[in-house]
Amino acid sequence: MRNKLTKAIFPVAGLGTRFLPATKSVPKEIMTLVDRPLVQYAIDEARAAGIKEFIFVTSRGKGALEDYFDTAPQLEQELRKKGKDELLEILKSTNMDSGEIAYTRQNKALGLGHAVWCARRLIANEPFAVILPDDVIAAEKPCLAQMVEAFAETGGNMVAAMEVPEKDACAYGVLDVKEDMGRMVSTKGMVEKPKLGEAPSNLAVIGRYILTPTVLQKLNKKKTGAGGEIQLTDAIDAARDEGEDVFGFRFEGRRFDCGSKSGFLRATVAFALDRPDLRDDLQAYINEIAHSAKAAE
Ligand code: UTP
Repeated sequence: MRNKLTKAIFPVAGLGTRFLPATKSVPKEIMTLVDRPLVQYAIDEARAAGIKEFIFVTSRGKGALEDYFDTAPQLEQELRKKGKDELLEILKSTNMDSGEIAYTRQNKALGLGHAVWCARRLIANEPFAVILPDDVIAAEKPCLAQMVEAFAETGGNMVAAMEVPEKDACAYGVLDVKEDMGRMVSTKGMVEKPKLGEAPSNLAVIGRYILTPTVLQKLNKKKTGAGGEIQLTDAIDAARDEGEDVFGFRFEGRRFDCGSKSGFLRATVAFALDRPDLRDDLQAYINEIAHSAKAAE
């Protein structure tokens, strides 16, 4: 029987330079879409996919992230005293049980592949998921749950993939497609950050993965790739070279690149418009500024 997927790695050790100066003291993953930090969306998605062990790869300055998952007795007591039951429930839903969450450190930001490798001792000989909290995906069925369902049929390695315009492919890992089966593609290669015009397809890898322990073995080599970083996609491709399957999975949903300012702003607007308590007011404001912009043309 195929091993059940119970562990997920959340690499959150990056420097977040695109959000400086905010990220000088606030971890990027704690920044909020409306009132929920990015990391909460990632945890909720993992839980919905059946994940039971949450492994964070952190670094210096990410203390706020660890505190976020602890109980806050004083705050809870205050809310209880004031009868703010709804808020109390929201607050309690962010607590993680003891032992459910593990932290390991990446002491130098050597790349995503290296961050995942830092968690190797917490992953036994079993498949594991990787979730990048700065890729937020709005979907009816959460993206990782969609992938877990497909993975139950295929096994192997699986990466979430989406179509991107040719000019944007150089910012992603791009799949070299062997066979296109619609929802899934099999691959014969993967190129990290290809030069303009050299991308093998328009299918880019985004921040959801289901991987085999072979990928961790490949990361042992600590080979640097594009941008001088140890790339996760290179290790996945090396596992494929050794005969393992690597599938691209076209997920259903809308992905926001919250690692970039414009993606973060779009997500903020989209998630706010989805909230009954905010929708009307925000929509009216958007209409108003669109109207003034048009009038000024
Ligand atoms: P990014 O490429 O977005 O890098 O990393 P970053 O450092 O977070 O942000 P910028 O580019 O400086 O603004 C993608 C994911 O990989 C993690 C990041 O935390 C993020 O979740 N990562 C990246 C690590 O954990 N360690 C690394 O060495 C690099």
